[in-house]
Amino acid sequence: MIEHDVKDLNLATAGRYKIEWAESQMPVLQLIRERFSKERPLAGLKISACLHVTSETAALARTMQVGGADLVLCASNPLSTQDEVAASLVANDEIPVYAIKGEDNETYYRHLNAALDHHPHMTMDDGCDLVSVLHKERKNQISEVLAGTEETTTGVIRLRAMAKEKVLRYPVLAVNDSMTKHFFDNRYGTGQSTVDGIVRATNILLAGRTFVVCGYGWCGRGLASRARGMGAQVVVTEVDPLKALEALMDGFQVLPLSEASSHGDIFVTVTGDKNVIDASHMQAMKDGAVLANSGHFNSEINIPALESMSKGEPRQIRPFVQQYTLENGRHLNLLGEGRLINLAAAEGHPAAVMDMSFANQALGLEFMRANAKTLENDVYTIPEAIDREIARLKLDSMGVKIDTLTSEQAAYLASWQEGT
Ligand code: ADE
Repeated sequence: MIEHDVKDLNLATAGRYKIEWAESQMPVLQLIRERFSKERPLAGLKISACLHVTSETAALARTMQVGGADLVLCASNPLSTQDEVAASLVANDEIPVYAIKGEDNETYYRHLNAALDHHPHMTMDDGCDLVSVLHKERKNQISEVLAGTEETTTGVIRLRAMAKEKVLRYPVLAVNDSMTKHFFDNRYGTGQSTVDGIVRATNILLAGRTFVVCGYGWCGRGLASRARGMGAQVVVTEVDPLKALEALMDGFQVLPLSEASSHGDIFVTVTGDKNVIDASHMQAMKDGAVLANSGHFNSEINIPALESMSKGEPRQIRPFVQQYTLENGRHLNLLGEGRLINLAAAEGHPAAVMDMSFANQALGLEFMRANAKTLENDVYTIPEAIDREIARLKLDSMGVKIDTLTSEQAAYLASWQEGT
């Protein structure tokens, strides 16, 4: 048996079914897998991947393996692992996995280091923790690394900060910045899966409730529109005037969080920043308010402040719901320990949207392998032609046809002489 640290290998059959189900909804990735099986573009490449260990990630891992990669997988969040999927990857695919749902911080970093013991030529990150540990604690290994990929907005922000300080030691592809990633995954994926996570955790009715979305980036836009679709009164809070204006013209009420705090029934952070919901906001919230986060890290809600404002320990009133009683007697319900609720209490984004994100990862690895030597130690995006090809394949797989320009139209768009 290959090395691993997963919850229980007896779960492997359930995991296998789950992976099969996800793969049936990932036609673009399947096409890439077929080509990879013939061309083996990742042959001999050692890859350490730090991703959410879900059935969709398993579909990607199996595609990379077919393409010739020698890969190891660890969790990118302590609460996002699907234990049955982890078991199946180990038992059925012989992919070393280090991930257990609910692992503590120490185990999380032990798993990350186990993935780095693989001495990768490429890193795949979801949040930049792998790159960060390599650059801070395992510098002697960095020269072995050719390139990396990064899945999330949060990770790309960290990488750009590293590149700006000139400390990034190898080129990284920002998968998040592909159009076929953030337009769809961040918006429709986060929108649906966050509502799914909140509903699975609480079973509360959203219709008629005041739903406060903190942050109107791609994820916030998606979440606000899905919450409205469920009948909630949506309030958006923002710090960026452009995004606030967009939220307003999209038809949402825009308020500072200090004002929204006393109105909201449900509060969700999707900002990528820290202490967005702070002590003063929680102090003003109604009895029974629900707090959740769908940003990458559990830093968006000031949980230490919530703990110190509360009487005694929180009650685990339902799975993924901790109920705090404040000194003022009100109860606040924190979901999923403030970790990304869509993966903690639900299953993350649906496979049909991860199809495009992970097509970008697979083609991104191929691209970085072929081009890394010519790139600086900076953050790159996938060439637009690859991005558009992924969109074309996705449309094809959905049986949707579109028009093409006539040669007259193409010439018109490329010329400046014709006017009124
Ligand atoms: N990030 C969000 N949803 C995901 C999923 N289903 N699998 C992997 N990473 C994700």
